[in-house]
Amino acid sequence: MTIKVIPTGAALGAEIQGVDLSAPLSADDREAILQAWADHIVLLFRGQSINDDDLIVFSRHFGELEIAPASATDMAGSQEKSRPEIWIISNVVEGGKPIGALGDKEAEWHTDMSYVDEPPMASVLYSLEIPSKGGDTSFANMYRAYETLPDDLKQQIEGRMANHDSSMTSVGELRAGASAVLDVREAPGAKHAMVRTHPVTGGKALYLGRRMNAYVLGEAVDASDRLLDALWAHCTKPEFAWTHKWQVGDLLIWDNRCAIHRRDAFNGKERRVMHRTQIKGDRPR
Ligand code: SIN
Repeated sequence: MTIKVIPTGAALGAEIQGVDLSAPLSADDREAILQAWADHIVLLFRGQSINDDDLIVFSRHFGELEIAPASATDMAGSQEKSRPEIWIISNVVEGGKPIGALGDKEAEWHTDMSYVDEPPMASVLYSLEIPSKGGDTSFANMYRAYETLPDDLKQQIEGRMANHDSSMTSVGELRAGASAVLDVREAPGAKHAMVRTHPVTGGKALYLGRRMNAYVLGEAVDASDRLLDALWAHCTKPEFAWTHKWQVGDLLIWDNRCAIHRRDAFNGKERRVMHRTQIKGDRPR
């Protein structure tokens, strides 16, 4: 085995050194990477020089890939990308048309696509162009957030479900074809357990999706908002988080079943181009 696993020292995240993702992974390295991923939730591989085929081959070590999701104001299908599995995240506009999704604004804390019944278990993001500052991506450990919840909050969410709104993106834009939500009890989306058990590690993690238009089933709207605000204030504390400052050639994989993430805004006059894949997941339980 050639790889080294270097934990960030924060609540989650580790850098993997000694692997070239443009070449096939040995069985031993693959196994060590999967173990490191289970242990650290987010893995960073620096200095990679890979194309979309390599990104897909690497991503498939973790599971079956999804076709890229529908985006905000454009649909993913309208992105001009080399493979249906690739989703471009970018602020670059060419010929009057964005080449990718999410633009240059802040993306609020979220879990990818928790608004579908079977959300992707993981996302892989590879950086091709980055701005001189800003656009950092932060992650928070939802096992720790759950373990450290005050008992009264733990009791309030025991066995409870929440609706995860599908109308808005993490940068606060209405998705193509969606209407503004006037009553969170009627928001479109998927209903999931608020605490899920990770199918590989057996750990229990808080599963909240995103705050915007979320609703705890069976509660009055005020009570649901109060509970969600308390949970979000807890799980986004700095002690559960780690922030990644991008370099060109960085690749990150994160586990959507036990982490949330957010992205800082950046100067829209600079270019940020990232290619992403998503690995199929199952219904949170
Ligand atoms: C995302 O929220 O998936 C995008 C993260 C990023 O652009 O860094």
